[in-house]
Amino acid sequence: MSTYTARFRVWRGDAGGGDLADYDVEVNDGEVVLDIIHRLQATQANDLAVRWNCKAGKCGSCSAEINGRPRLMCMTRMSVFDRGETVTVTPLRAFPVVRDLVTDVSFNYAKAREIPSFVPPEGVAAGEYRMAQVDVERSQEFRKCIECFLCQDTCHVVRDHEENKGAFAGPRFLMRVAELDMHPLDAAAAGGGPTRAESAQDDHGLGYCNITKCCTEVCPEHIHITDNALIPLKERAVDRKYDPLVWLGSKIRRR
Ligand code: SF4
Ligand code: F3S
Ligand code: FES
Repeated sequence: MSTYTARFRVWRGDAGGGDLADYDVEVNDGEVVLDIIHRLQATQANDLAVRWNCKAGKCGSCSAEINGRPRLMCMTRMSVFDRGETVTVTPLRAFPVVRDLVTDVSFNYAKAREIPSFVPPEGVAAGEYRMAQVDVERSQEFRKCIECFLCQDTCHVVRDHEENKGAFAGPRFLMRVAELDMHPLDAAAAGGGPTRAESAQDDHGLGYCNITKCCTEVCPEHIHITDNALIPLKERAVDRKYDPLVWLGSKIRRR
């Protein structure tokens, strides 16, 4: 087993401000960035705040920025860095810092609450829902989300624009709207109300997304957020808006 000393630069501070602190830390074969952060806590910085839980890439807690890129600390192997390279670990930039590497991600929970849940079809009892396997598989991809919020953090619409947060749900939650929009049994639009795609556009800021795909690039679950959720949602929103028959139909239904 080989061991070496790595130079780590870790952001220390709180909501009032902070700075990067340098540490030299032992690294062993097979370790990930979270292991090194834990060793730092144990040996040199006992009060270093870090959020984590599973250490298996499944709880979504250990999100941070490593050399400027949003990543899970527990899934980032030290072997991807050169041994002489300084590894810089900073908190997620799009959310307010609580302390050190811990950010307040409550923005995301607020956005989740803004999306009305699945509306069951009328006259079909629970347990009697039926849908085609192809529809199950389509939404299954989105269900892999671990809510790490790396996509939310990286999207330029909110990353440097706090003022957009009110109007924009972010890729994770637009993906949730897309999932409901693709659900063959969702009856949210029954009775002439807006479709999920329309409300994505009008209520959740889908129009802010200019499909840069940065969200997709950082997703640790490799969900094709842009291609499989956001672009189809945009197409469906636009189809309805500019199709004269759909437009006329919705006007008549709303009377
Ligand atoms: Fe994380 Fe991917 Fe879910 Fe976004 S879609 S919160 S990046 S798992
Ligand atoms: Fe943002 Fe992803 Fe769209 S990064 S701009 S939500 S494609
Ligand atoms: Fe759970 Fe990293 S500790 S995803």
